[in-house]
Amino acid sequence: MEKFYITTAIDYVNGAPHIGHAYEKILTDVIYRHFTQRCKNTYFLTGTDEHGIKIQKTSTEKEMSPKEFCDMNAQKFKEAWKALDIEYSQFIRTTDEQHEKAVQKIFKKLMDNGDIYKHSYKGLYCSGCESFLSEKDLTEDGLCPNHMKKPEIVEEENYFFKLTKYKDAIIKHIKTHPDFIIPSFRANEVLNQLENIEDISVSRARSNVSWGIPVLGDDSQVIYVWIDALSNYITALGYDSENCDNKFKQFWPANVQVIGKDILKFHSIYWIAELMALNLPLPEHILAHGWITIDQTKMSKSLGNVISPTSVLEAFNLDIPDPLRYYMASAAPCGKDGNYSDEDFKEKVNAHLANSMGNLLNRTLSMLVKYFDGDIKPEFLGKNTLKEQSLETIKAVKHHFDYMEVQEAALKINELVDLTNKYVTDNAPWTLAKEGQMEKCGEVLTNVLQVMTVIASLIYPYCPNIASSMAEQLTYDLNTKLDDITCESLKAGHLIDKENIKPVFLRVDSELADKKKN
Ligand code: MSP
Repeated sequence: MEKFYITTAIDYVNGAPHIGHAYEKILTDVIYRHFTQRCKNTYFLTGTDEHGIKIQKTSTEKEMSPKEFCDMNAQKFKEAWKALDIEYSQFIRTTDEQHEKAVQKIFKKLMDNGDIYKHSYKGLYCSGCESFLSEKDLTEDGLCPNHMKKPEIVEEENYFFKLTKYKDAIIKHIKTHPDFIIPSFRANEVLNQLENIEDISVSRARSNVSWGIPVLGDDSQVIYVWIDALSNYITALGYDSENCDNKFKQFWPANVQVIGKDILKFHSIYWIAELMALNLPLPEHILAHGWITIDQTKMSKSLGNVISPTSVLEAFNLDIPDPLRYYMASAAPCGKDGNYSDEDFKEKVNAHLANSMGNLLNRTLSMLVKYFDGDIKPEFLGKNTLKEQSLETIKAVKHHFDYMEVQEAALKINELVDLTNKYVTDNAPWTLAKEGQMEKCGEVLTNVLQVMTVIASLIYPYCPNIASSMAEQLTYDLNTKLDDITCESLKAGHLIDKENIKPVFLRVDSELADKKKN
C-alpha cells in the first residue's frame, strides 16, 4: 500500500467533546496507527465544524462573538485529543481562512457548471441536524428522529444543489463496490434513502443566518453547513477547485472516512454527489460506526449523563490514556453500538491489560532475571514454538483492519495473549528451573518474550504508551513494519536487569496505582 489517508467527522463546537466524539477519534487513531505500521505515507485529518445557526445562537446566549466562542471550544477538542494521544496530522477548522476561500471557489465552480441553482423554498429545518427534513423523515409526532425536536418551518430563497442528477451514478457505485460502505448492512439503508432524494438547499439567507461563508458574488446568501463541512476533507489537503497542492495529489482520494451512523446519508449521498460534480475520485471506504451509550442510556444534556473523555482519565487517575483508548476501541463490533460504564471499564482493562498482558511480560522478565541474570543464552533461541501462531495472528489482525474491524482485531490479540499465558502454565518454567532443566526453562521464557515483541507491535495502535514500555524492556524496535516481523527479534545476550523491570500497566484501583495518585 502506497499511501493511506483517513479522516474523521469534524465535530460541532457548540459544546465540549464527549465520549461519543472521543470514540470516533480513538477508532480512527487506532486504524491510522495500524496503517502506519503497514505503509510509508499516512495522513490523518480531524477538526471542527464551526458555522451554522446553532453556533450563532449558542454564542449569542453566552454573550460571546461566534468566533470567540468557536476558538474557546475548538481548543477544548484539541486538548482532549492531546490527552488521548490522538496523533492527527492536521486539525482543520471550518473558520480557517484557507478553507473558507476554497469552499467559496468550490461553490462557484458548482454554480458555473450548472449543478447549483436558485430556488424559492419552504421546508422543515432541524437545527440539530443543520439540515432540511422531509415529512417522511419525521417521527409520528412530527419530531426529528435524531434530536427529538420539532423542526421549524423555514421559507427562503436558497441555492440548491442538483442532487437528483447524481442519484443513478451513486446507486451504481454503491452496488458495484460492496465494501464502499462499512459495515455493508448499512448500504441498503442508503439505497433506500436514495429512492426518495430531492435536490438539497446549500445556502441560507444571510438575514437569517449570518455565521457562515458568504457566497461569492451574492452577499445575501451564506453557504450552508454541509457543502462547507464536507469540503473540509479536500480543502485541508489544499484543494480549491483551481489549484491543488502536493498533499492533495498525494493523498486524495481518502482510503477511509470515519463517521457516525447518524451522518451516513450526508457522506454516502451528498458528499459523493459533490465529488462527482467536481469530477474527483471517490473515497475507498466510508466507515459508519455505531453510537456509544452511557450505562445503556443515550447520552443527553437533559439527562445529565454526558461524559467527557478527560473526566474518565481524571476519575481513574490515569497518567496514560491507553486503557480508555483500548476500552473504547474494543467497545463494539464494527458498525454496531457500544456502551461505556465505569464498572465495565475497570473490569476489562484490569483483566486484559494488567492481568493477562502486563503480568505475562512482568513475570516472564522476572523469571529471566531470577534464573539467568536477565540473559538470553544462544541455546535458548531457535525453537520458537509460538512463531506460527504469532504470524497467524498478525495476518488475522491485518485482515480485520482491512475491513476496519477494530474490536475484532483486538480480540485476536487477546487470543494470542491467552494462548501464550496457557503456554506458560502448561510448560511451568518455575518447575523446570526447580528440576534443573535450565535450557528448557530458558527456551520457554525466550519463546514467550519473542511473542511479547509481536504483541507489543499489535497492541501499539490501541495502547501506544504501554507498547513502548513493553518494547523498551524487550529492547525491541517498535517501528518494525508489520510485514517485517519475524518473531525472531530477540538476540542472545543480556536483556534486562532487575531494576529495569516495571509493570507496563497497573490495575486501575490497585494499591500501587492508588499510591501513585497521592
Ligand atoms: N459537524 C457534523 C459532522 C460534519 S462532517 C463533515 C456533526 N458533528 S457532531 O459533533 O454532531 O458529531 C461528530 C461525530 O461524532 C459524528 O460522526 C457523530 O456520529 C459522532 N457522535 C456524536 N455522538 C456520538 C455518540 N454518542 N457515540 C458515537 N459517536 C457519536 O455531526
